[in-house]
Amino acid sequence: MGFFDKLFGRQQEEETTMTNLNIGIVLGSTREGRVSPQVGAWVKELADKRGDANYTIIDIADYKLPLLGEGEATGAVAWSEIIAKQDGFVFIVQEYNHSITGALKNALDYLREEWNNKAAGIVSYGSVGGARATEHLRGILGELLVADVRVHPALSLFTDFENYTEFKPAEVQANSVNEMLDQVIPWSTALKTIRQ
Ligand SMILES: Cc1cc2nc3c(=O)[nH]c(=O)nc-3n(C[C@H](O)[C@H](O)[C@H](O)COP(=O)(O)O)c2cc1C
Repeated sequence: MGFFDKLFGRQQEEETTMTNLNIGIVLGSTREGRVSPQVGAWVKELADKRGDANYTIIDIADYKLPLLGEGEATGAVAWSEIIAKQDGFVFIVQEYNHSITGALKNALDYLREEWNNKAAGIVSYGSVGGARATEHLRGILGELLVADVRVHPALSLFTDFENYTEFKPAEVQANSVNEMLDQVIPWSTALKTIRQ
């Protein structure tokens, strides 16, 4: 391979890394009967249409993380690996007693560097759109050096779900998800440069 081929090849590689962002869509709840998989699948469908990143659903329940420091955390290595791979996140957040779930807090506590210097958006739901849980999460993300964006799709248990369990989002919510991703993508791209 000649000098220019090498140079061109390298440029191409760099371009791919710049545009091929990995964004993890993290499901925050783990209880039986949870609605978070429906919300996560909807966000992924909207996100995939954009073609601006590799979007992956990350289900905390798959990693079977015991409370930090209690029991054998057999899934901890895989948890670390999947989070390390991401350039940014969309947290699917449900409100439990005016905050985030214990499962999400525990999963966040497991790692540090893997979260650092990355961006995130939050899609939440609850009786008031999961607003109180979201504000708690923003404080936690600050400590983990995760830059959370301003636009926040907030889904109502009363108007975006049927019988509080069947997810039927109002049409306008899709715009909100796209506006949130319009902020997550450039921030994830920018923060990638300071991790290299
Ligand atoms: C333990 C618990 C506490 C809850 N507390 C609140 C609350 O403080 N505010 C609220 O709006 N909804 C609250 N809810 C309702 C949840 O937001 C709703 O059930 C939602 O579907 C839970 O998300 P999940 O189905 O993904 O687990 C609570 C639900 C549970 C299970």
